[in-house]
Amino acid sequence: MPSSSIFFGVGLALSTLSSTAFATTYKLGDTYSGSSFLDGFNFFTDADPTNGFVKYVDQTTASNSQLTKMVGTDNYIGVDYSTALTVAGGVGRSSVRIESKKTYTKGLFIVDLKHMPGGICGTWPAFWSLGSGTWPQTGEIDIIEGVNLNTQNKFNLHTDTNCKTSGVNQTGTQGLSDCALDSASGTSGCDVNAAEANTYGTGFNSATGGVYAMEWTSSAIKVWFFPRGSVPASITADAPDTSTFGTPDSNFAGACDMDTRFKDHRFIFDTTFCGDWAGNVYGMS
Ligand SMILES: *[C@@H]1O[C@H](CO)[C@@H](O)[C@H](O)[C@H]1NC(C)=O
Repeated sequence: MPSSSIFFGVGLALSTLSSTAFATTYKLGDTYSGSSFLDGFNFFTDADPTNGFVKYVDQTTASNSQLTKMVGTDNYIGVDYSTALTVAGGVGRSSVRIESKKTYTKGLFIVDLKHMPGGICGTWPAFWSLGSGTWPQTGEIDIIEGVNLNTQNKFNLHTDTNCKTSGVNQTGTQGLSDCALDSASGTSGCDVNAAEANTYGTGFNSATGGVYAMEWTSSAIKVWFFPRGSVPASITADAPDTSTFGTPDSNFAGACDMDTRFKDHRFIFDTTFCGDWAGNVYGMS
């Protein structure tokens, strides 16, 4: 198996809030899985907004060059890991960035992954959600993200203004706590580092991955990671109840008006190389 690849097992399940105001149970809204997985996504082919050494290819090119394919019932999304490239004046390494056609505001969003890029210098894979408008006017939620030799996942929020998180009721370690672009945190936003080494990269892959669940309400954005074998039964039964999930890995809540800062997000999978984050900290890896 190529090391720079992502498998989607059961798939991505996007659920909508049930009608009760403070409910923690969800009913299934949309499912993205199997051979129809890619039908729910557009291929992004513009230059990388994070300045990576990458060329995002279109759907036909991705399919013809085996960057997207089915492996059994799983979806594979990979990168060109064999071509020798010249950095000076080069076009960047071929990769895939897909964005959901549908947008979502609040809900429970669940992704099941068997494999992700495994702690490799220069890589910056991510599963995240993003609103429209001038970045980050309608917010960004980074659910899975890391660079280079990272062994632990980083959760991150970005807003344009006015959003602070108190960094409590979570198993992860709070980094920066001001999410706003107009704050001292700037383009770094606010972040939480996962406590466990099976949340990202090589450690994640050796356990055949697992499930990430992101709950977005008016009061908080929480993310849980469940390793393979420890996925709550309510998720497997398509009737998730977040009150049974335990303490989340990250809990973004505090002086932040979620309904104003986060709106109409599309969900994105991509792998870029170097650029604004992986490139800038490359020397520290
Ligand atoms: C943290 O948990 C306590 C106890 O459940 C709760 O009262 C408080 O609102 C929570 N704070 C945040 C920011 O999640």
